[in-house]
Amino acid sequence: MPVVLIGFMGSGKSRVGRVLARLLSCPLLDLDTRIEEEAGCSIPELFASRGEEAFRALETCELRRALGEEAVLSTGGGIVNRAKNRELLRQSKSTVVWLQAAPQVLAARIRSEPGTRPLIDGEGLLDLDATVERVRALLAQRAPFYQSCTTLQVQTDGREPEEIAAQIAESL
Ligand code: S3P
Repeated sequence: MPVVLIGFMGSGKSRVGRVLARLLSCPLLDLDTRIEEEAGCSIPELFASRGEEAFRALETCELRRALGEEAVLSTGGGIVNRAKNRELLRQSKSTVVWLQAAPQVLAARIRSEPGTRPLIDGEGLLDLDATVERVRALLAQRAPFYQSCTTLQVQTDGREPEEIAAQIAESL
């Protein structure tokens, strides 16, 4: 049964996941990487060529597969969008950790990797203020969904991945 990291784009799921996997001596499984391997293209390319629904279908498929593995599972920020995924997460009885961060922090991280998040930059690159607004709006929609599958909430602002990962490891 994996430890699952959920949270908004830029919340540090991959960075914390790497440290946590090392601490727990188990593999890190990145769901977006699995989806890219399955699709044979990058996520922005997948959104552009086949649309968000095709991405979400692959995401559900890969989530179902990953929940059977003994690993630290780093998910995409929209994993909680689909009711089916939320149900899969709850039924798995995995520890599901919601990494939380302020919209300004998330937006700054997103802006440092332009062009990688089609749900933010799909219509053209946004500036920082517009990114903060977009993050706020999406986060308001998603927060109840994150909440509904979470077993552990962790505040990440101003903290290093090592400290966050240690807190998660201690709670298991
Ligand atoms: C998404 C987040 C992305 C990726 C895709 C959709 C989302 O992952 O799965 O672009 O809907 O929030 P990260 O959270 O790793 O950026």
